[in-house]
Amino acid sequence: MAGGFVSQTPGVRNYNYKLTPKVFVTCFIGAFGGLIFGYDLGISGGVTSMEPFLEKFFPYVHKKMKSAHENEYCRFDSQLLTLFTSSLYVAALVSSLFASTITRVFGRKWSMFLGGFTFFIGSAFNGFAQNIAMLLIGRILLGFGVGFANQSVPVYLSEMAPPNLRGAFNNGFQVAIIFGIVVATIINYFTAQMKGNIGWRISLGLACVPAVMIMIGAVILPDTPNSLIERGFTEEAKEMLQSIRGTSEVDEEFQDLVDASEESKQVKHPWKNILLPRYRPQLIMTCFIPFFQQLTGINVITFYAPVLFQTLGFGSKAALLSAMVTGIIELLCTFVSVFTVDRFGRRVLFLQGGIQMLISQIAIGVMIGVKFGVAGTGNIGKTDANLIVALICIYVAGFAWSWGPLGWLVPSEISPLEIRSAAQAINVAVNMFFTFLVAQLFLTMLCHMKFGLFFFFAVFVFIMTIFIYMLLPETKNVPIEEMNRVWKAHWFWGRFIPDEAVGIGAAEMTHKTV
Ligand code: BGC
Repeated sequence: MAGGFVSQTPGVRNYNYKLTPKVFVTCFIGAFGGLIFGYDLGISGGVTSMEPFLEKFFPYVHKKMKSAHENEYCRFDSQLLTLFTSSLYVAALVSSLFASTITRVFGRKWSMFLGGFTFFIGSAFNGFAQNIAMLLIGRILLGFGVGFANQSVPVYLSEMAPPNLRGAFNNGFQVAIIFGIVVATIINYFTAQMKGNIGWRISLGLACVPAVMIMIGAVILPDTPNSLIERGFTEEAKEMLQSIRGTSEVDEEFQDLVDASEESKQVKHPWKNILLPRYRPQLIMTCFIPFFQQLTGINVITFYAPVLFQTLGFGSKAALLSAMVTGIIELLCTFVSVFTVDRFGRRVLFLQGGIQMLISQIAIGVMIGVKFGVAGTGNIGKTDANLIVALICIYVAGFAWSWGPLGWLVPSEISPLEIRSAAQAINVAVNMFFTFLVAQLFLTMLCHMKFGLFFFFAVFVFIMTIFIYMLLPETKNVPIEEMNRVWKAHWFWGRFIPDEAVGIGAAEMTHKTV
């Protein structure tokens, strides 16, 4: 395949490797893991706006929705309805904590398999649901699946990928998430037009398709060299490294993996160790990046775009169609990150995307505020509604090449092996917790904060952009087991990293990153 690549980042080692078809195919299949998450994210919003579904399980919301509504902001406010959406994320939170041990002890691929399996069972419960209990049990099983997949897939991709293309490969996870969302919205668009209860059953039941895909994928995937070494399969690890890097000259990278594994064996309790000062930068990042990702407010769009568009006065069919359009835009714009993240780096995308989201959120808040006012009784014209949809698309595009993919990439690549699984579990748990909170609270927040909700998220986007500017060092092209050097060179985090962690004298650390 393509010629060899050599890492150009100063202060870190250079490995020699080729982009092999094997690593490409492996990561492509690995990224399937994002599909189950995405399918679920995309399906819930549409299903909860389908009348037969509401009539069967949430008759109170259905009645309220049909009645003449004097306050547009509060039309869909129901804690039980949001619990349907958000229960999954609590389950995912819990399972990601177990998944970290399975990922470490049995390897990344079996965590993925388990994720697909529980998701499969959950989809059956949901597709055949007769009552709310079945619906919620199904959601919880789906949540377990998502927790396992999200814990293992980003780490899998980051470990498999050649360092210079790690960003692009890891972004495959986000591409799969958004692809899942788009497919789900398209399915919803058609099933919403079916009479009776069949439509929502098809929407929820079809979750079994991505579940089967990830199960099959996980069975055929090899495990990462890092994980093989961690579990004592040193010879196999070397062969795997040679075959995915397309060269027999992998000694240097292999030695780094072995060293990282040796060091990680000294650490008996990753959960306790991650609290040590030397892991402070990773701990802070793995807590704050997912927190901020959710506080961008993106899932207000992901879950509730159809509801939001109906609030803006669109008919339910037009609302689903608009949700489809925002999904497609998000998918296309994610590729901007795929193609630039290893060239321009993570920081540029984070900062540019943040500023774009900030401006569009403020504009959306102002427009809705002017049109609906505080009472929420105004009327919105067609042109204005379309303008708001356009602003939402600009906001979504900004997220699609920044916090969306990077919210999964950066936490998966910044931790040394000895705490990587635990750190990723924290990342998923925090992400799921705030996904849950936003899903659970959004409709109530919209009801009470009205257009101010958009300003609320804008404040967070402002804070997170400053956070990245000050505290996140650039990690593009840095081999994953060499990341300590980047932290050591950082103006703030350097003080937390002991010299022995980078295995060099301080004189070597000449380049400083922001
Ligand atoms: C986020 C999700 C979001 C999705 C699509 C992911 O990176 O974690 O919460 O729904 O992107 O926008």
